[in-house]
Order: sequence, then structure tokens, then C-alpha cells
Amino acid sequence: MIRVSNLSAYYDTATGRSMALEDMNLCVPKGGTCAIIGPSGCGKSTLLRILAGIASNYEGEVSIADASVDPEVLSIGFIPQNYGLLPWKTVRDNIRLSWKVKHPESLVPEGEETILARLGIGEELLERFPRELSGGQQQRASLARAFLLQPDVLLMDEPFSALDAITREEMQEVFFELWRAQAVTTVIVTHYVEEALYLGQTVIVLSSAPGHVLSVTENSFFARREDSGEYAAQKARLRGWLTGKGAEA
Ligand SMILES: Nc1ncnc2c1ncn2[C@@H]1O[C@H](COP(=O)(O)OP(=O)(O)OP(=O)(O)O)[C@@H](O)[C@H]1O
Ligand SMILES: [Mg+2]
Repeated sequence: MIRVSNLSAYYDTATGRSMALEDMNLCVPKGGTCAIIGPSGCGKSTLLRILAGIASNYEGEVSIADASVDPEVLSIGFIPQNYGLLPWKTVRDNIRLSWKVKHPESLVPEGEETILARLGIGEELLERFPRELSGGQQQRASLARAFLLQPDVLLMDEPFSALDAITREEMQEVFFELWRAQAVTTVIVTHYVEEALYLGQTVIVLSSAPGHVLSVTENSFFARREDSGEYAAQKARLRGWLTGKGAEA
């Protein structure tokens, strides 16, 4: 279970302290998925970095499995918005990076071939460096790194943003395979209402900066590709919150 209570995050800059998140509360049950949408700059990436245990510019409480966030103890698969690949390592070494930290005694990650095949990462890409890949290929490498880890918690920051529509849908299915097989507790940040409704059992809309929770939806369209009137109405409601007409919509 991921629990965030009264979280406020800030950045200290030359012109003073600016708030990125304000009094945010969030709860994702063990094995559940939560999708977060909100305007650019509202603090979504800041929230994921805090959940990943790599940022401490906050006040309030953040816990995973009833303990404070510790990447040394928990297996956290984090797909940052900029993919987070190390430029001086080959794609193969990048993909094995998180896994190697957890399994220093093993040579090859279990299921590597299958995951690489599912993500469309061929042999020819593995010896290249990240700068020699397209944005979409880098994004798939970042997904491979997180999925190979078989994490307890998966944090994905717009993980499919650089992919074309067809590849995006395929990668969403790869995510579901992993999620079903391992019941990994997941938080996904996305700009797309449709993606939030497909991947989030709960959908949370954040306000513009500093981000706070505007709406929490228990999503009956989770894992369903829908085109019904109710689905259109739900999309419109979420869009309403995003565009500041929440109460009316
Ligand atoms: N290192 C930093 N120093 C100062 N301000 C920062 C820093 N990183 C982010 N911010 C500010 O904090 C706010 C939240 O940033 P964040 O990256 O979390 O937004 P976001 O919701 O992920 O946006 P986007 O949808 O564009 O990715 C923004 O106003 C941003 O300018
Ligand atoms: Mg962001």
C-alpha cells in the first residue's frame, strides 16, 4: 500500500521558495493501480520522485507498505519522464542496471528475452548507447529496465508519451501482463484521459500548480477499451476537472 498524507513539496530557488504540491493525500492499495492526471507543472513528476525515494523536498508523510520509502529495502521500478538512461552505458547495461543492484550474484535476469521481445527491443539495439536510439526506443528501454526488476512498486511518469498510437497500445498490454503476473502496486502519470481510464483503478485529477487533489474517481472502465455513452460522459467529467469546469461537468 502506498500512502501519502498531507504532502506538500517545494523548491528553493534564487527568488525564494515555490510550492510544487500542496496538502496532497493519496492511497493506493497493495496490488492496485492509480492514474494521475493534471496540468503541466502541477507537480506530478515531483510526486513520483518523492515516492521513488529520490527527492526529499517535502513535508508530510509518505509510506509504502507501512514503512518510510527506502529504495534499498523495496524494489521500486521508476520510469522517469526523461527515461533516466545513463548515457555512458550501453542499452543492455542500462536495462540490467536496477536488476543488478538487487541480484549482484546472478548473470542474466530471469525472463529478459521475453520482456525484450515483448517490448520490441532487438539484439541490434542492445550494444548501442542511449543517444543512438530514438525517443520511443529509449522509452522502451526504460520500461524494460523497470519491468525486469520485477518491482514491488512501479512508478511510471508518462511512460508511453514518445510512442505512436499502436505501439502505445501494445506497451499498455505489456504493462498489464506484468501487473497481472506480479500484482505490482502502480502509480502512472499521464496526460491522456483515455490512458488514465484504461490503466487506473483509481483516477486522480490534480489542480494547476501547486498541485492538490481535485477529484478521485473509482474507475469502472479500468482495463476496458470502451466506446459507450457512459464512457464518453466519464471522459467529459475528467476533462471538466482538468479545464477548471469540474463542478459544472
Ligand atoms: N529543480 C527544480 N527547481 C525549481 N523548481 C522546479 C524544479 N523542478 C520542478 N520545479 C517546478 O515545480 C513545479 C512542478 O514540476 P513537475 O516537474 O513536478 O511538474 P509536472 O506536473 O510533472 O509537469 P509536466 O506535466 O510538464 O511534466 C513546476 O512549477 C516546476 O517549474
Ligand atoms: Mg512531469
